[in-house]
Amino acid sequence: MPTKTTKKKSEQPTPKPMKRLVSGIKPTGQLTLGNYIGALKQFVKLQDELIDTEFFIFIADLHAITTPQERQELKKNIRSVAAVYLACGLDPEKVNLFIQSEVNEHAVLGYIMESTAYIGEMERMTQYKDKKVKQTEGIRTSLMTYPALMAADILLYDADIVPIGDDQKQHLELTRNLATRFNHLYGDTFVVPEGFFPETGARIMSLSEPSKKMDKSNENAKSYIMLLDDLGTVRNKIKSAVTDSDGFIKYDVKKKPGISNLLTIYSSLTDIPIKELEKQYKDKSYSAFKTDLGEVVADALRPIQQRYFEYINNPRLDEILDQGAERAKLIASRKIQKVFKKMGLGRVK
Ligand code: TYM
Repeated sequence: MPTKTTKKKSEQPTPKPMKRLVSGIKPTGQLTLGNYIGALKQFVKLQDELIDTEFFIFIADLHAITTPQERQELKKNIRSVAAVYLACGLDPEKVNLFIQSEVNEHAVLGYIMESTAYIGEMERMTQYKDKKVKQTEGIRTSLMTYPALMAADILLYDADIVPIGDDQKQHLELTRNLATRFNHLYGDTFVVPEGFFPETGARIMSLSEPSKKMDKSNENAKSYIMLLDDLGTVRNKIKSAVTDSDGFIKYDVKKKPGISNLLTIYSSLTDIPIKELEKQYKDKSYSAFKTDLGEVVADALRPIQQRYFEYINNPRLDEILDQGAERAKLIASRKIQKVFKKMGLGRVK
């Protein structure tokens, strides 16, 4: 009879390490439908699909202070983003949810990334160039250097995958360059991450100026939909969305940016392909289409709003954030030790 042999531990195949996913949202004001479709909805979908992946999702409060923030307002917004994450369906059993500033290593690695990046690279970032022209004086240094902090946010956790909207693509590219540069200078340290962009809805446009991104900092409140807007307001904003005078429902971003954006929103929220929607609304008016879209958006936001109010004043929210920060700190502090060692900082052997 063959004897059963047990392999020594060193001979056993090492278990495949879990992959990691990282993403964050800045708590400046309330979140928009663009944030939902471009980011939040993706996080929720991926948490159920990527079972071999550990999720680190955070509230990017250090990024908020690149522009002036009122103290109480910032506090409120941080909590609000945390509640929105959960209301949108993030499952704390599957996701480490935490506040960026509660894990000090973000700022430490942020500085190290500034010491890896070149000024020219920072100055070339389109978001910085756009934001700089909107502000005439008192532009904070961090407004320029914040992509280095974003790189740190990602590299700290050895993220394999970073789900983001289109507007963050350039920052992700910079992150990849910085990781590669650092690895080259100091030896293999960081995983070079991949971006993950939604197939439909990576760039939701303004309702009033469909050539621009939907953005909460726009002065015209009709240009964006807030996730917490009351549903009557949501329907009205969609009714007043800018379209064209052609009168037929067809996806053509160049010639018909307004209706194309509305088709994108409809398709992202229902998973009905745009081609299918074009057929369905072939002989319908813009007005009928907008009425239906108003209902689609209201149906998507209703459950989020209900759950939001269950979370916002619930002590369970703090427990979830504590638990997330604890796990994040463990991973982040190990990584910082490794980085210090590679660079010769401090006394790490
Ligand atoms: P923020 O807070 O501006 O946006 C959060 C997420 O929402 C996406 N998004 C959109 N997607 C589609 N259409 C839109 N109109 C739209 N507006 C916003 C953004 O692409 C983003 O994914 N720097 C980041 C936050 C951040 C981060 C990170 C993200 C900090 N560190 C590390 C990923 C990994 C920011 O300001 O996103």
